Formats: sequence, C-alpha cells, structure tokens
Amino acid sequence: MRVLLTGGAGYIGAHVAVALLARGHDVVILDNFSNSKRAVLERIERIAGRAMPSYAVDLVDLSATADVFEREAIDGVVHLAGLKAVGESVEQPFRYYRNNLIGTLHLLEAMQRFGVSVLVFSSSATVYGDVSAPPFTETMPTAPTNPYGRTKRMIEQMLEDIAESRADVSFIALRYFNPVGAHESGLIGEDPAGAPNNLMPYVAQVAVGRRERLYIFGDDYPTPDGTGVRDYIHVMDLAEGHVRALEFAAERRGYDVFNLGTGRGASVLEVVRTFEAVSGREIPYVFAPRRPGDVAVSYADPSKAERLLGWRATRDLAAMCRDAWRFQVRHPYGIDVGTAAKGERS
Ligand code: NAD
Ligand code: UD1
Repeated sequence: MRVLLTGGAGYIGAHVAVALLARGHDVVILDNFSNSKRAVLERIERIAGRAMPSYAVDLVDLSATADVFEREAIDGVVHLAGLKAVGESVEQPFRYYRNNLIGTLHLLEAMQRFGVSVLVFSSSATVYGDVSAPPFTETMPTAPTNPYGRTKRMIEQMLEDIAESRADVSFIALRYFNPVGAHESGLIGEDPAGAPNNLMPYVAQVAVGRRERLYIFGDDYPTPDGTGVRDYIHVMDLAEGHVRALEFAAERRGYDVFNLGTGRGASVLEVVRTFEAVSGREIPYVFAPRRPGDVAVSYADPSKAERLLGWRATRDLAAMCRDAWRFQVRHPYGIDVGTAAKGERS
C-alpha cells in the first residue's frame, strides 16, 4: 500500500515508518514538525534503505492537506499527528482541541474527497481513566480525565460515527499503553524537547548524566513496591502492531478498536533496576509526592489484538531499556544537538 503517515517524524511515527517500509509498503510522511526534527526523515531512509516523500504540512490547514492527496495516490492513512502532553492540555485546552480535533476532521475530509477509506488512528490507554480495574479490555467504559485524553476519545467517537454512516470506510483505533525504547539501530528514538514528562526518557537522561536524579512520583501506591505500575511496550512492537492493523483494516469495513500493550505491568523501581542493569550506570533517585492524575496500576488485556490481528508484543523490558539506552548514548542531548548545548542539568 501507499500509506500517508501523519506525525511521521515524531517518536512513534518514525518507528512506524521503518516498520511499514520494512514490510514493503510505500510511505508518504506529513508532519508540521511542531514536535519533531526534519533530520529524522533522513534517518528513517537510512534504516530502510529507501527514499520517501515528505510534506511539511499542518493538518489544520485543509487545503495544504488536500494538496498532499492530490499529489500522492494514497491507499491508506496511519494518523499519529497530534499534541500529547497531558499537563499542557490542562493549561491550553483550546490549543489541544483545535490541533487534535480540527486536524483529524480535515484529514477525514481530505480522505473522503479523494476516495481514501482506510485509516488507523493512534488513541491511548488514557481513555480508560480510573473507573475500571486493570487489565483493561476494549469493552470497558471510557472516562478520560484531561483534555488530551478527551480529544482521543472524541476522535474515536467521530471515527465510529462516520463508519456507522458509510459502508465504504474502514477505521481502526489503537489504544497504546506506554511506548518506550528505540529502533535497535540507535538512529531514531524518543527525543523530547525540554525536560521529559515520561519515565523512560527521564531515566535515560539521568543515566547519561544529563540530569542529576530521577524523581519517583509516589512510594505509597497499593503495589508490591509502592511505586506506579505501567504496561511498557517496545516502540518497535507497537510499530509492527500498526502494520498488522493497517493490513487488517484494508481487508474489511467498519470501525474497531484494539489495545496495544504487553499485558504485563512493571513498577517504576523495576524500570530503574532494569535500566541500571543494561546500562551499567547508577540511576540516583528520590521519592517525591504522587503526580496529580496518576493511577496506581495500568496494563492491557492485549488478547483481542492477538486474536484478530495475529499480533503480540515480543520484546521484554530489558530490550526496551537496552534500546532506549543505545539511542541516548549516541545522542546525549538529542538528535542534531551537540553536547555544547548543556546548562540544563537539573
Ligand atoms: P510526537 O509528538 O513525537 O509525534 C507527533 C508528531 O505529530 C510530531 O512530529 C508533530 O510535529 C506532529 N504534529 C502534531 N500536530 C500536527 C499537525 N496539526 N499537523 C501535522 N503534524 C502534527 O508524539 P508520539 O509520542 O510519537 O505520539 C504519536 C501519537 O501517538 C500522538 O497522537 C499521541 O497522542 C499518541 N500516543 C502517544 C503515546 C506515547 O506515550 N508517546 C501514548 C499514547 C498515544
Ligand atoms: C502518561 C500520560 C498518559 C499518556 C502516557 C503515554 C500523564 C498523567 N499521563 O502516562 O496520558 O498516555 O504518558 O505517553 O501524564 N514517573 C516518575 N517520575 C517521572 C516520570 C514518571 O515516577 O519523572 C512515574 C509515573 O508516576 C508513573 C510511571 O512513572 O507511575 C510512568 O509515567 P509516564 O511515563 O509519565 O506514563 P503514564 O503516567 O502512564
């Protein structure tokens, strides 16, 4: 298939691009580079050994989005473009609704105009909120607790409603658990701007000496060691899940939703210990208060994806830490940033 990959220069998008290309699909990247670097594109091509067209386009710009469909004969779309920081979404809800909802509506409008009917969308386990007990299954009620999560849930509902009203479309929402790690080449990986919000990139930056210590948010959760438990999934497993979902979507019609997780939870301390073991570095940490909005435990029931997509995560926590570490060592201050850009050790 010739696949339009929105957000393809981002963390997950770059890995999805590599997985699609490895599987023999053609990839066209659309990204506004608001949270990514252009240098990533050349790295994807280097890993894949193939070139791919890319467009610096904002999905909120409908005519620029439609132009991409005009120029490229697209068979299907993998839609990852969006803003994703929970805290920021609470402070700037308008920006999140505008970017994520309008961007998606414009993409759907352009698809309809050009007769493209297959779409895979990146949703999040955050839609489950804290009303059910894990493991989370796709049929459980949703209850997102912040504007970011609500944009994900609203987009799922948009896709479901449109699929209900039209016989020709095939839409799939993938609810990611906690994607971490990097491509094994060490050329692409998670490269957040500023201080990382998420655990694994923070741990990696402490290990490499860019930050002094990790703050562990909460040591009194009802978990075996008191720290939060999450379902970490290797980003390449996640990327391969997209390839399976896209191929599945191309063979059918309607709307469906799948969890992408391992089904296994790991605590913050388990991540720290595993990272220390694979990196050979000590990770200094201190306990800090719980982070508002965090749940104690989150992990997937991934059996639906296994049953219907024939997909299952195969890489363990050690592989996730090893690959995250390889990327971090090669780019202590991020892609395209020399070690001169310091002064942010905290
Ligand atoms: P990312 O920020 O690295 O990638 C998103 C990409 O989309 C960036 O390259 C950004 O420049 C681009 N983008 C944003 N708005 C755009 C717009 N209006 N037009 C064009 N491009 C735009 O984030 P990621 O971690 O790779 O996440 C990808 C998707 O997966 C996001 O939708 C995110 O909400 C979702 N997701 C991520 C996680 C996670 O832990 N990383 C978990 C669940 C869901
Ligand atoms: C966060 C988002 C969620 C999003 C997911 C994947 C919040 C509240 N939730 O989930 O919406 O879908 O990322 O992008 O932001 N931790 C520390 N110290 C740190 C960072 C994290 O102890 O510096 C702990 C957290 O308390 C949690 C675990 O590590 O127990 C994982 O945190 P994180 O990587 O931010 O992911 P989530 O909170 O699961």
